[in-house]
Amino acid sequence: MMMTCSHLTRLPLPLPLSSFSPCATSTFKPAATRLRCRCSTADTPAMVKAIRVHELGGPEAMRWEEVEVGEPKDGEIRVKNTAIGVNFIDVYFRKGVYPAPLPFTPGMEAVGVVTAVGPGLTGRKVGDVVAYAGKPMGSYAEEQILPANVAVPVPSSIDHKTAAAIMLKGMTVHVLVRRVFKVEAGHTVLVHAAAGGVGSLLCQWANALGATVIGTVSNEEKAAHATQDGCHHVIMYTKEDVATRVKEITEGKGVNVVYDSVGKDTYKASLQSLAPQGCLVSFGQSSGSPDPISMGDLAPKSLFLTRPSMLHYTGTRDELLQSAGEVFANVASGVLRIRVNHTYPLHEASRAHADLEARKTSGSILLIPDN
Ligand SMILES: NC(=O)c1ccc[n+]([C@@H]2O[C@H](COP(=O)([O-])OP(=O)(O)OC[C@H]3O[C@@H](n4cnc5c(N)ncnc54)[C@H](OP(=O)(O)O)[C@@H]3O)[C@@H](O)[C@H]2O)c1
Repeated sequence: MMMTCSHLTRLPLPLPLSSFSPCATSTFKPAATRLRCRCSTADTPAMVKAIRVHELGGPEAMRWEEVEVGEPKDGEIRVKNTAIGVNFIDVYFRKGVYPAPLPFTPGMEAVGVVTAVGPGLTGRKVGDVVAYAGKPMGSYAEEQILPANVAVPVPSSIDHKTAAAIMLKGMTVHVLVRRVFKVEAGHTVLVHAAAGGVGSLLCQWANALGATVIGTVSNEEKAAHATQDGCHHVIMYTKEDVATRVKEITEGKGVNVVYDSVGKDTYKASLQSLAPQGCLVSFGQSSGSPDPISMGDLAPKSLFLTRPSMLHYTGTRDELLQSAGEVFANVASGVLRIRVNHTYPLHEASRAHADLEARKTSGSILLIPDN
């Protein structure tokens, strides 16, 4: 008889048949495999592999460990992750820029298959494909428990890797261009780190809305990506003065909005590049936190300044479904094309972080669980 199980782990041979303790849904061919079920039984909790941070630090602070996953309680689901999105916010938590109690499992985004639902939960069933982006942290794991109300169904037309590559970054872009500052035809927008995970999608969406898009990048390869993603003008901010170039491109007018995720290295040029009544959307600090901006910095051009978090705009179930729905619709219609340029096995999350921090990546980064 063949049975299926999602909790199989490799063991050295030879093994007696008594080593196999399959749950009701296990698959194994005892003579031919070296797999042991890791499902929970009455006296053994379900164990999965996950990345754990015990001390804040560099990429090496992330350890590959076995953790107990447990059973979903009221209002919860258990999800076996198939593709996990890497985001710069994961770096902030690992370094302690944003606080989190230690030890923790990093990660704010994944797609997976529901393997169990809490007692009495309706509207979700085992086998559903779901995606989530945001809190609670803990997606760098083979399997995790989630509140059911943070998970959204993934349309069958969108594969798992695409969904994991777009969920957090795409919803962030939705919030930035549709709610924080509504981009319209005729606007000129400046997007820093235009070839990054968020930047790539931001340029595509702003272009589709009819804006003139100016993007900044650090090298030629990223400049080519930014152009393909809808940038009408690309500035190499490692070589060129951004404010001067923006002045030339806009014939002195400046831009209506700057989407600045780089922070410390760019915020001054961002302010200088704005047109009167323009808006600085400071939504990240990949290069470090920007210095404080005073009212006096805004006064000469009656500027607007905002520091949004996607989480504050997707906090209700309706907002979450609206945001995810627009993102998935834009993928389906071709407005958003996903660049999954970097894929790592989950246990090599530290390599993914090292590459992200060294500015070696463009587009989206995924971690794929080994099994
Ligand atoms: N507020 C929110 O709700 C929200 C949500 C999602 C993301 N974010 C922010 O959006 C930003 C982008 O996130 P992402 O995951 O898509 O990352 P990413 O843009 O793919 O990676 C960061 C990029 O920033 C640029 N960069 C400039 N100076 C850097 C430095 N000193 N160190 C590292 N990178 C530097 C690099 O591009 P170049 O090589 O072209 O310079 C790098 O590739 C992050 O700041 C993140 O915190 C905010």
